[in-house]
Amino acid sequence: LLSIRVDISGMTPGTQLTVKWRGKPVFIRYRTTEEIAAARSENVADLPDTIARNPNFDGDVAATDAHRAVPGREEYLVMIGVCTHLGCVPLGNSSGDFGGWFCPCHGSHYDTAGRIRKGPAPENLHIPKLSLSDELILILG
Ligand code: FES
Repeated sequence: LLSIRVDISGMTPGTQLTVKWRGKPVFIRYRTTEEIAAARSENVADLPDTIARNPNFDGDVAATDAHRAVPGREEYLVMIGVCTHLGCVPLGNSSGDFGGWFCPCHGSHYDTAGRIRKGPAPENLHIPKLSLSDELILILG
């Protein structure tokens, strides 16, 4: 299946769903206000990877929280759950030193916007092509 639909209307703040899309895990997180605030407080210039890695924007836009989260519904963060180091699946639910995701294979820490902060991974977790309807149906692809 090239495109899938996921009903995320039942999610609550601080929860995460993982779905499979094109053979890869996709993490869908409903972030808390604290997680969003933490992600927004960072200066992009200080991050290891300053590029958003988000194909929903044209070109290589900066890795601000607004360029990582779902446009218009920034409490939702949707990412391909594959570590950008060597492809392990990071652990979620506020894992690692930055309260986001942690890859146990070689110790990469991602923040609450899924941006690499520490460890060997070279890039932020990638965002898939997506859209979200008013009824909270997420379409991947
Ligand atoms: Fe994730 Fe190496 S595969 S840190």
